[in-house]
Amino acid sequence: MAHLFLMVGLPGAGKTTRARELATTHPALRLTPDEWMIPLFGESTAGRKRDLLEGLLISTALRTLRLGTPVVLDFGLWGRDERSALRWLATSVGASCQVVYLPVDEDVQRARIAHRQATAPHTTFPMTGADIAQWRRQFQVPDAAELRGGTVPAPPPDWPSWPAWAVDRWPSLVTTSR
Ligand SMILES: Nc1ncnc2c1ncn2[C@@H]1O[C@H](COP(=O)(O)OP(=O)(O)O)[C@@H](O)[C@H]1O
Ligand SMILES: [Mg+2]
Repeated sequence: MAHLFLMVGLPGAGKTTRARELATTHPALRLTPDEWMIPLFGESTAGRKRDLLEGLLISTALRTLRLGTPVVLDFGLWGRDERSALRWLATSVGASCQVVYLPVDEDVQRARIAHRQATAPHTTFPMTGADIAQWRRQFQVPDAAELRGGTVPAPPPDWPSWPAWAVDRWPSLVTTSR
């Protein structure tokens, strides 16, 4: 059974650093959206292009898991529903799945972001203090059930299934095998 690692945390939490370690030790395919967005578009979001890119990377991850190779999705995944959808999709292709949550205190986060901006500006994008404060308010900390890989909850009201929710969130996503 192949394994899917979901890197969860805010910018500067150390996700990509840990994702590289996991990709080396397992070994696993690491998919880090910023490594695609920044060379392609010169920025991390680019309207809805980020959502489209993530959908393509998730489709690639599901195909890779079906082939038996572990995958590290280095997305951040601030929302509980995003994590639930991906946990459900991993199970649907016969893979196991683990939320790898990296908490970070705000002062450490700010220092790491400043250090990265100074030493590796081509890998990142400018983040203001106001951005960081707002992101910390938006982030949904994983709960105990998510961290221990408990049962995936039902999709939100009005959604018939997690695949339907996921295709709305990531419009380029292909959930069926092909
Ligand atoms: N455990 C750690 N201790 C100290 N510095 C770290 C640690 N993990 C990452 N860093 C540094 O902090 C910065 C942000 O790490 P990164 O892995 O790029 O975070 P993220 O991918 O979550 O935004 C980088 O400069 C990295 O070298
Ligand atoms: Mg990163």
